[in-house]
Amino acid sequence: MKVTVLGAAGGIGQALALLLKTQLPAGSELALYDVAPVTPGVAVDLSHIPTQVKVQGFSGTDAKPALKDADIVLMSAGVARKPGMDRSDLFNINAGIVRSLIEQVAEVCPKACIGVISNPVNTTVAIAAEVLKNAGVYDKKKLFGVTTLDVIRSNTFVAELKGKNPANMSISVVGGHSGVTILPLLSQVEGITFSEDEITSLTTRIQNAGTEVVEAKAGAGSATLSMAQAATKFGLSLVRALQGEENIIECSYVEGDGKYARFFAQPVLLGKNGVEKLLPIGELSQFEQNALNNMLDILCKDIELGENYINK
Ligand SMILES: NC(=O)c1ccc[n+]([C@@H]2O[C@H](COP(=O)([O-])OP(=O)(O)OC[C@H]3O[C@@H](n4cnc5c(N)ncnc54)[C@H](O)[C@@H]3O)[C@@H](O)[C@H]2O)c1
Repeated sequence: MKVTVLGAAGGIGQALALLLKTQLPAGSELALYDVAPVTPGVAVDLSHIPTQVKVQGFSGTDAKPALKDADIVLMSAGVARKPGMDRSDLFNINAGIVRSLIEQVAEVCPKACIGVISNPVNTTVAIAAEVLKNAGVYDKKKLFGVTTLDVIRSNTFVAELKGKNPANMSISVVGGHSGVTILPLLSQVEGITFSEDEITSLTTRIQNAGTEVVEAKAGAGSATLSMAQAATKFGLSLVRALQGEENIIECSYVEGDGKYARFFAQPVLLGKNGVEKLLPIGELSQFEQNALNNMLDILCKDIELGENYINK
């Protein structure tokens, strides 16, 4: 299994590379690419860690050598938020970065599973899909917006509030990956009940958790370490599913049946070819149904922005 990280010298990229170096199965390869000249050095640094995962680093303007034979591409290239910004403020810079990197993926490893971390995910995934489509290589089963951070945050915050072990929680988060489009399905958490106030405050906290980190870092970036952990969880699930392990489920922002929006985060059964099956989002409480109804306009506009960026 070869995993390529694009944006590998960044805050997320370096932590993600470290976690993958220590957690990928023996015999895997890890390729790191970033425009930053330090990237080959990051690979040398990681290569001294005693695991059977081979690491190579590439920098410069050409991502293609890093992408050769990749089975999985995790992309965290781009700029991150500063206080006062929301994810859509990143569009102008990150749209072009995502476009150019995905064009290279389409050329070099069109069959790879792609996990898009670069924000705004609601839009960058649509950009990636259109680039792949125009190149004639789009497979909707293999393109994922990585929304796992919303899941691990939900698990952590609920466990904290209710005195549970977060490792035993797996809360579904559906919709998209910004503000009100992030919808944790708290009504489905088994064995735990919430008051109305708890549901409102937890939902708001999960939706604004990224901003909580941006403000705490006070201009020095957004979530990197927790995001790297989330991307590792998602990436390792993909590796296991591609290698034939069954019953691997992750929430991810994928092109589904269009019931809610062209792209929608929902629980997905992963398999040897990426998405094996989209799983239903289940029964919603009235609060969740209202939140879902209220987000769809925003989500659809975010998606359209990405489609138009490539096609108009
Ligand atoms: N999906 C999520 O849940 C989530 C969570 C947190 C952050 N993010 C997003 O992830 C992205 C990265 O965040 P970060 O904190 O690691 O930022 P960062 O600035 O620390 O790192 C970004 C890296 O991308 C590199 N880069 C820029 N242009 C590139 C290109 N064309 N090719 C290859 N590399 C390129 C930069 O050199 C830098 O090393 C941001 O867009 C951020 O908003 C997503």
